[in-house]
Amino acid sequence: MLGNYSMKRELTIGILGAGKLGTTLGRLFIKAGYPVLISGSKNVQDIALTIEVLVPNAVPLLNHEVAQRADIIILALPLGKYKTIPSEYLDNKLVIDAMNYWWEVDGLERIPSDPNLTSSEMIQDFLPNSIVLKAFNHMGYHDLEGESFSEVPKVIAYSGNNEDHKDTVKELIESIGFKPLDLGTLENGRVLEPGSPLFGANLPEEEFTGLLKTF
Ligand SMILES: NC(=O)c1ccc[n+]([C@@H]2O[C@H](COP(=O)([O-])OP(=O)(O)OC[C@H]3O[C@@H](n4cnc5c(N)ncnc54)[C@H](OP(=O)(O)O)[C@@H]3O)[C@@H](O)[C@H]2O)c1
Repeated sequence: MLGNYSMKRELTIGILGAGKLGTTLGRLFIKAGYPVLISGSKNVQDIALTIEVLVPNAVPLLNHEVAQRADIIILALPLGKYKTIPSEYLDNKLVIDAMNYWWEVDGLERIPSDPNLTSSEMIQDFLPNSIVLKAFNHMGYHDLEGESFSEVPKVIAYSGNNEDHKDTVKELIESIGFKPLDLGTLENGRVLEPGSPLFGANLPEEEFTGLLKTF
């Protein structure tokens, strides 16, 4: 896997959630040259060793410290815990929602309960003063790790209502060796949710867009 350890990037990425997805993205963004801050659900000591081993050079902090200090926040915690996101520190920040409703973790009652609402739209409603975009939710963490900078680039699709911040998300996706694909509005992100054929997609652009056309 190629990366660019020598490049230093200015924006600091904060990841809420130090589990499978959070540590994988953390590792990829460190490799791409971004400063990375990361938090788990509790104390810093609880994740310090995990971060030292799995995401060397990332800084473990408390949830609200990550939210406060980072320029861009990635939500990599269980969707059912979304109300614990420190919303008061996220005003005017770009928040990338990578979460999915997964019944085994989040319970049998669908989140959000309103079937007309996508989970990322619900997160935007919860964070009305933040700019929420959806990305990094459809590919499994093992594929993210393994397909970064693959010979034929694999798609990471994203969606959001704020066009001004899409270039930043595009740059983030490219920096870790994937092909960004803009799906339009947050609502359009429904095609990336669990249950959709694109959920789990680890595909080059042509196949990804081909599948998209069948909807
Ligand atoms: N796994 C994947 O391949 C994958 C791919 C794309 C998207 N996702 C989505 O990413 C999210 C995380 O999945 P995962 O597989 O990484 O789960 P995971 O391995 O169970 O990790 C979840 C992490 O979130 C932490 N957490 C819980 N509440 C938190 C809070 N309030 N603030 C900060 N961190 C908190 C947990 O800490 P504790 O252990 O202390 O509770 C744990 O470190 C889910 O929404 C999932 O659908 C997962």
